[in-house]
Amino acid sequence: MKDQLALYGGPKTKNTPAYPMYPGGLEIGEEERKQVLEVLENKYLFRYYGPKGVQSKVALLEKEFAKKMGSRYALATTNCTGALITALTACGVGPGHEVLVTGYTFFASCAAIVAAKAIPVIVEVDETLTMDPVDVEKKITPSTKAMVVVHMRGVPCDMDRIMAIAKKHNLMVIEDVAQAVGGTYKGKFLGTFGDCGCYSFQYHKTITAGEGGMIVTNDQRLYDRCMGYHDTAACWRPDRFAEQRYEGELFCGTNYRMSELTGAVMLAQLHKLDSLLSRMRKNQRRIIDQIKNTKGIKVRPSYDEKGDTGICIMFYLEKKELVQTFVEALVAEGVPAGGVYNSGLPDWHIYAHWKHIIHKMTPTPEGCPWTCPYHKGPEVQYSEDMNPNTLEYLSRVVHLDIPPQMSDEDCDLTAKAINKVAAALL
Ligand SMILES: Cc1ncc(COP(=O)(O)O)c(C=O)c1O
Repeated sequence: MKDQLALYGGPKTKNTPAYPMYPGGLEIGEEERKQVLEVLENKYLFRYYGPKGVQSKVALLEKEFAKKMGSRYALATTNCTGALITALTACGVGPGHEVLVTGYTFFASCAAIVAAKAIPVIVEVDETLTMDPVDVEKKITPSTKAMVVVHMRGVPCDMDRIMAIAKKHNLMVIEDVAQAVGGTYKGKFLGTFGDCGCYSFQYHKTITAGEGGMIVTNDQRLYDRCMGYHDTAACWRPDRFAEQRYEGELFCGTNYRMSELTGAVMLAQLHKLDSLLSRMRKNQRRIIDQIKNTKGIKVRPSYDEKGDTGICIMFYLEKKELVQTFVEALVAEGVPAGGVYNSGLPDWHIYAHWKHIIHKMTPTPEGCPWTCPYHKGPEVQYSEDMNPNTLEYLSRVVHLDIPPQMSDEDCDLTAKAINKVAAALL
């Protein structure tokens, strides 16, 4: 059977072209062009002012995004990292606080906590590859102020349990929805469960302007504080020199304002979100239906299958030693795939590679935030093997992107290739 594999000289299963994973990026067309040209023709390039009588694209995007997600407020930002730092700061995270975050996420989710002057505490993922509520409970200390809850690779976290833990321990919840825009949990959009939800519109994400981000919240005070922080000190409020209306409304911030050009592209992209999601979900389901009973493979479980955005398929093999050859065999069959941990490549999505955190690398010698005098309790320590479950799951998983551009034939050939490789190797 092995000699039938393309890896060993047999016939290749899939000869149709593979699409790169730029779901919204590859769909950029007339709608984006029209929106951007309008900005240029109107000469209105800054969201807070410009020639009279022109509607700000960023303001319109915020309005439409909030409506789509079912949230009271939305604030557009330059990117999701800026959105996370802004949301954490608005939530009152700062010196002396610990913030929980998972060890399987893009490094930015963790770096944002340090940028907000707090200390990250890295928790395990469970088999869904999202935050493990059991480990969350174990890692809460009197210094824990918040959690960054990451809906990783398109799937929702266990929001019922996470929100119950947050309530019990009085923790703020910031959802990182960078990789799951449009995903849902029990019918409600991700990003709308916690105190703030943060999204990314970077080029690899479902909808994109190359760079871009968004924060949603239902809380007016959090919105005001996010708005102020992302705009240096709420400099461009309608009444810009007004006194603060309540304690904590005004303070020094930074600049994460979204540009009108980005807002224009994102307006067009937002209108394409539903179509992208339904195509990715259809493709994902079509492939999973053909591999879910295959011997030796276990498709990543989910807390809500319907809420998955469909951006990828991840499945487990029984032994990590099988992953490398399985992936090479799939690639030889014409199906781009990858392992996650131990695939020979350092990966910014796995805590074991976050040397800046593990070695507490800081821009100045004082070691802030880890040496913060406001921090009570034992110093937080890290090591490459501190979260063994996370590494165990990630070392056994195979990952495939599911671009919306795939045809039914592409999906069927992909499933056929997985089954062929599984039959030969497992
Ligand atoms: C889970 C997660 N969080 C945050 C980010 C940061 O997003 P941005 O590049 O928009 O700052 C990313 C980007 O890849 C991500 O995947």
